[in-house]
Amino acid sequence: MTHASTHDSSGTLVHPADSPDSPWWRDAVIYQIYPRSWADANGDGIGDLPGITARLPYLRDLGVDAVWLSPFYVSPMNDAGYDVADYRDIDPVFGTLEDADTLIAAAHDLGLKILIDLVPNHTSSEHEWFKAALAAAPGSRERNRYIFRDGSGPHGDLPPNNWRSVFGGQGWSRVNDPDGTPGQWYLHIFDTTQPDVNWENEEVRAEYDAILRFWLDRGVDGFRVDVAHGLVKDQTFPDTTGSMHTAENEPGHRMPMWDQDGVHDIYRRWRRILDEYTVPGDPDSERILCAEAWVQPEERLARYVRPDEMHQAFNFEFLDTGWGAAGYRHVIEESYRSNDAVGAPTTWVLSNHDVIRHATRLAILSEGYRPNGIGADDPQPDAELGLRRARAATTMMLALPGGAYVYQGEELGLPEHTTMPDEWRQDPIFHRTKGTDEFALGRDGCRVPMPWTKEGPSAGFGPSERSWLPQPAAYAGLAVDQQQGVPGSTLTLYRDLLDYRRKHRFGHGSLAWSPLTDATTLAFLNTSGDGTRTVLVVTNFGPDPVPLPGGDVIIASSPLTDDGAVPTDTTVWLRLPSAS
Ligand code: NOJ
Repeated sequence: MTHASTHDSSGTLVHPADSPDSPWWRDAVIYQIYPRSWADANGDGIGDLPGITARLPYLRDLGVDAVWLSPFYVSPMNDAGYDVADYRDIDPVFGTLEDADTLIAAAHDLGLKILIDLVPNHTSSEHEWFKAALAAAPGSRERNRYIFRDGSGPHGDLPPNNWRSVFGGQGWSRVNDPDGTPGQWYLHIFDTTQPDVNWENEEVRAEYDAILRFWLDRGVDGFRVDVAHGLVKDQTFPDTTGSMHTAENEPGHRMPMWDQDGVHDIYRRWRRILDEYTVPGDPDSERILCAEAWVQPEERLARYVRPDEMHQAFNFEFLDTGWGAAGYRHVIEESYRSNDAVGAPTTWVLSNHDVIRHATRLAILSEGYRPNGIGADDPQPDAELGLRRARAATTMMLALPGGAYVYQGEELGLPEHTTMPDEWRQDPIFHRTKGTDEFALGRDGCRVPMPWTKEGPSAGFGPSERSWLPQPAAYAGLAVDQQQGVPGSTLTLYRDLLDYRRKHRFGHGSLAWSPLTDATTLAFLNTSGDGTRTVLVVTNFGPDPVPLPGGDVIIASSPLTDDGAVPTDTTVWLRLPSAS
């Protein structure tokens, strides 16, 4: 075995250890279920709540702490449920309120917490409020729950300003007045069927307070908050030149619909509500809020997790980092600096239902480049390279102190569906941008139903052949039953990582850079929350194997070289002898 002599295990401290008795959410690993695509109990080709409940033991065995469910509410499904028509009921395609109660209880029995998705930036156009707004006159109480404005131009037939929709096209649509004549315009930052709610209106605020309580009373442990950076708009509604995809159009200049200071009052108010549900002296009873906020730089994001606001915010800058030591080093350092300044944990994430799966994304070479969908006519990413890097990235991520999110199927190493025929595509992004210079294929490729068994209809997704999106050929071979208990499989890797991480409280550990870090090697030391052991974590991004110091290899994302060095695109956890 080649050894890089002895290792200086003091390192350069980047992040101090968390208190060992800190609450569950500070180091939780939370598994995201996209309900349409996880498990279909009734064979209609769309996943459902009974399907999820039946398969919860799989998640207990995987070793996660909690589950986040993407929306399951009543919805016309124009944006796969992120267009909510009734926040207090379940869409029949997913089941009933009783099914939700059963799911929550079953999860709790297994020791899993349940987070649900709250979508407060917009409702569906099928929501009773929006229907009432359309039937009411300009200036009415009903219209004031949304953002209606008169048009510009001499006849009011131009939109009130030049804001675009994140999904492509104009951000405003014109309605007809009850007598059939063209009337006012309403804002929709997303699809036309997702009208933005007016958060300046106290009636709106009170309604969402009540929705939070409705679900807290049913026992949910928290909420992932959709578009958390978008609720409050600059009330002067200025024209803007920036891209809708970044919160700042140039350093220090925020877009008028993103990351406005006023959003923080909303989260302070919600935090007070959630805190009412904490049982004094029992940190395990704490309910949480997690911000989906595409906000840069990290300091701005950290404002969402100040002590009296949310508990977590997805670290999308980490997700967006291209494959390379320098980028990861920078984002890790910045994340701890910003979050430690406000006393919040960092919440790591590599995949979700909006981005190219990391087993595919990390094979695309250019730094930080993330296309919105890949199709059969595009150059096809190298699946083997992507999987190798994804395993290395996850092995690195799960050693980082803080919390982490895992997106369904990444534990199987599932790639993106990169050859989906267009006729299957359902994402409004695909339909809204078609034929324009904003054209994007959309997010369907990461939303394909899970393969549970190699044989059987829909690879075990459900009892029938039906599957709302087609599964690519590679999925059957990656099914759960092909990987369970198989040494070296990605599922076994995730289980081992989660098991070790939990046993030694690595989520509460401290982080220091190891002197092995250089231009192509990322190396850090995690000293566990209980202070009993230090693990050296080494990721090799370069072409040449990196020799290891003496110690016991705990886990490696790919086999080491014959002489025990870390090959390219591999992460290793090594227990240092000095710390035993
Ligand atoms: C973010 C969600 O994750 C995404 O799927 C959705 O389309 C938009 N917000 C709009 O709700």
